[in-house]
Amino acid sequence: MPDTGFMQALDRVNFLVSQKLDTLLAVPDGPESWLFEAMRYSALSGGKGFRPLLCSASAAIFDVDEHRAARVAAAIECVHCYSLIHDDLPSMDDDDMRRNKPSLHIAYDEATAILAGDALQALAYEILADEATHASPDVRLELVSQLAKATGMHGMVGGQMIDMLSPNLELDAGGLTRLQKMKTGALIGFAVEAGAILGNATSEQRQALLGYSHDVGLAFQIADDVLDVRGSSDEVGKTIGKDAQQNKTTFASLLGVGRAHDQASLLIEQAVAHLEVFDARADVLRQAAAFVIHRDS
Ligand code: IPE
Ligand code: IPE
Ligand code: MG
Ligand code: MG
Ligand code: MG
Repeated sequence: MPDTGFMQALDRVNFLVSQKLDTLLAVPDGPESWLFEAMRYSALSGGKGFRPLLCSASAAIFDVDEHRAARVAAAIECVHCYSLIHDDLPSMDDDDMRRNKPSLHIAYDEATAILAGDALQALAYEILADEATHASPDVRLELVSQLAKATGMHGMVGGQMIDMLSPNLELDAGGLTRLQKMKTGALIGFAVEAGAILGNATSEQRQALLGYSHDVGLAFQIADDVLDVRGSSDEVGKTIGKDAQQNKTTFASLLGVGRAHDQASLLIEQAVAHLEVFDARADVLRQAAAFVIHRDS
């Protein structure tokens, strides 16, 4: 059972992010309304909100205004949704179900799914570059630049490329760790770092959060891989068994689910140890780490 403090923080940030995205994605008149409906279908479809939670919990350590943090969290959720829409396409993982609903390319069509993903990515940067996110242009520039680094060729998209090639690469544990850190860890890393950027954290505090996010990011993808083997499709909200079917290299395929789960638990212990420099104000981040390995979805 996740801690009540964690659940409250999760509900609060998901509420604020939905509110902001609902406004930003107001459907206009004209034929492009189809695109907005598709973007809303994905971005307002009730994911767990784990990355938004990390951003708001990290920002809360530094007393950042919750609406500013929620704007950055909304930008992160836009990028995350874009990555899932594209990840599900027939040319990538070819997944028909996402968050217990038909994937976007099934509910709409492939062209719309590609364009909705593109537009969600652009919207993320529009949100970060807006004065409402932070009064200081330097802070906004750092957010934009770090998100670009986390999601581009050295981060998420680079990792997705290696993931697509992985059936033919015979990756060892080192190669797979690199893949996972890029495709999933980098955006999770940005979510935590964004709180530190907004809160003008010291370099010691930033280092601690960086160490935490690296371990949590890798553990999050290992847990996802384990759920693909032994989760329930109803709870996870997506088709189970796809990784093995598509010959993807994952920690579950490399180590077996038992050892993969142990590896994730070890990473979570390490993650929490990085937070020693913070007092109880980092408790939600501590609880978020525990959530990664105890979740069923
Ligand atoms: C799924 O992420 C994709 C991965 C990077 C593992 P989530 O498990 O956070 O998906 P939602 O947002 O809750 O649907
Ligand atoms: C997706 O990893 C990672 C990104 C979208 C960046 P997966 O392919 O394992 O995610 P699921 O299992 O489809 O959610
Ligand atoms: Mg994938
Ligand atoms: Mg996938
Ligand atoms: Mg997966």
